[in-house]
Amino acid sequence: MLPVVDRPLIQYAIDEARKAGIEQFCLITGRGKDSLIDYFDMAFELETTLRERGKTALLEALQPSSIEAGSLTAVRQQEPLGLGHAIWCARSFIGDDPFAILLPDDIVQGEQGCVKQLVDVYNETGGNVVAVSEVPKEHTNRYGILDVGHDDGKLVEVKGLVEKPDPADAPSNLSIIGRYVLLPEIMTHLSKLERGAGGEVQLTDAMAKMIGGAPFHGLRYEGIRYDCGDKAGYLEAQIAFALERPDLREAMRGFIKKYADA
Ligand code: G1P
Repeated sequence: MLPVVDRPLIQYAIDEARKAGIEQFCLITGRGKDSLIDYFDMAFELETTLRERGKTALLEALQPSSIEAGSLTAVRQQEPLGLGHAIWCARSFIGDDPFAILLPDDIVQGEQGCVKQLVDVYNETGGNVVAVSEVPKEHTNRYGILDVGHDDGKLVEVKGLVEKPDPADAPSNLSIIGRYVLLPEIMTHLSKLERGAGGEVQLTDAMAKMIGGAPFHGLRYEGIRYDCGDKAGYLEAQIAFALERPDLREAMRGFIKKYADA
């Protein structure tokens, strides 16, 4: 629910998924995170009051959080056993269909939408597709890292995947960002609930087991990713997204100049 400019991170994730044509959403939440689900309910009292008082601009600002009835569901991850375990908790929702995963602490700025680009690749190649970007070698221990096969500069054949390797052991510096399009077969591997890096059930380990079956690609997507799980990344996202807004751009530029010169 952390806001960037004037909307919570979850809103950016839902908007990006919608842009890719996705119509059914499942939030994987846990203890103390009910506000994520409540956010998508109609704020009946507030909306009625605003309507009565003719405050249409404020009423319109609530629109993005409205979602078609029946299109949003949620499952609970009762224990924080890792990302792989979280995804496995949604197995009934996913059923037999390919699906996208968006980790909302990563937000991606750009015209096209990152998941839309993954879906476009999926429609051409089939199989699994993950969004990737280069990171400094010393940061490989923060991400899932690719072992790279054929690479045409945009689309990369995935030969192997390692979760958070030490820089010395990392097969490349190409990291997975929090956007995936995966085949439902991943659930077979996740259901074993094997522990990996950090003692957690890792999505990366289950994905690694799918290599060699269906095609598996990494996409150097177009757009800029901000890691809002990191303090500096979160602050950078505020600046970048505010500068994109016509109503805030000038004020923001003024602030940046003022504080940069101080
Ligand atoms: C998770 C994944 C990791 C991926 C990262 C992207 O890590 O396990 O492979 O690179 O998201 O943000 P986390 O950020 O949960 O530690």
